[in-house]
Amino acid sequence: MDLRIESDVDLTRLNTFGVPARARALVRIGDVRQLRAVVDHPRLGALPKLVLGGGSNLLLSRDPPGVVLKIEIGGLRVLRDDAQATLIEAGAGVAWHELVCWSLEQGLPGLENLALIPGTVGAAPVQNIGAYGMELAERFESLDVVDLTTGRAATLDRATCRFAYRDSVFKHALAGKSVIARVRLRLPKPWRAQLGYAELQRCFERSGVREPSPREVFDAVCAIRRAKLPDPARLGNAGSFFKNPVVNRTIRNEILEEYPEIVSYPLDDGNYKLAAAWMIEACGCKGRSVGAAAVDSRHALVLVNRGGASGAEVLQLAQEVREAVRKRFGIELDLEPVVV
Ligand code: EPU
Repeated sequence: MDLRIESDVDLTRLNTFGVPARARALVRIGDVRQLRAVVDHPRLGALPKLVLGGGSNLLLSRDPPGVVLKIEIGGLRVLRDDAQATLIEAGAGVAWHELVCWSLEQGLPGLENLALIPGTVGAAPVQNIGAYGMELAERFESLDVVDLTTGRAATLDRATCRFAYRDSVFKHALAGKSVIARVRLRLPKPWRAQLGYAELQRCFERSGVREPSPREVFDAVCAIRRAKLPDPARLGNAGSFFKNPVVNRTIRNEILEEYPEIVSYPLDDGNYKLAAAWMIEACGCKGRSVGAAAVDSRHALVLVNRGGASGAEVLQLAQEVREAVRKRFGIELDLEPVVV
């Protein structure tokens, strides 16, 4: 099978931070056969591979070594529909928000809390995307992967994916080893609005809507996101740059004694998630910059490219923010995006 290998490709527009980097080789992958052809290719087969979806959870701090695989596998379909749930399937290259809109248009609600999350369907399981009271794992059925060494395809269920907060097996045992080709989601029936996230609830209290429709939840989520988070199409960013740290009750209480106003959420396992944005702001880092890289002036968890920033500058800024939080709170912030 013939592969179209592009050489010396500018990646600036292929990462939502909009930082410059170049790929020595890039192959656009439209189906699983092309993936296998890359694995079997006499030259590409042995090279390191960077799998690129929407480039929205990625920081390119240098030119990636080896070959970049730009995943463009399409397709959206309903697989099964019964009294309990509807099963849908999407190609890894479909934009996540397009999937959310398509499912709503088909009269298949259940993903609306995850509206407007940048990136592709194939990238969604890697970090178990989540927002406004829902995580991908809650709607996940299974996915198809192709092994980057053997070219073999396999289907992984939810347990095998080991989903956790912004985490999965694809950031650990399978990191860099496989490519997600297709994802199947389960939309349970009957649909119920998930309004656990306080801001969403407040939104409907204010408007007096008691039982919002899926479309109303979708609209509310889009409005909240647009008000709080910078649009990567206008201001380069990769969404939350840091994860919210999870600490045990003792540590949380110690911090709470000194900082009674800190925002934290109790988790089912007895631990607490601390709002990293709150801590970053408390350290005075909101608006801080290194070159054209800055901590967003609206949401402290987001680092932005004000125009012309390099990946190295973003990384330098991230280190400074981590240092400030470590000094003040004794907490290590983990990065959310994949750093190359
Ligand atoms: N806050 C500040 N300063 C800020 C921003 C927020 O003090 O500049 C405070 C807020 O007042 C709030 C708390 O921090 O009390 C939490 O803020 P927010 O509700 O915006 O949520 P988050 O915990 O910062 C997480 C996800 C987002 C997701 C939102 C909504 C992570 C790392 N981030 O942010 O996900 O959209 O909840 O569910 O878990 C992403 O992962 O890219 C992302 C945007």
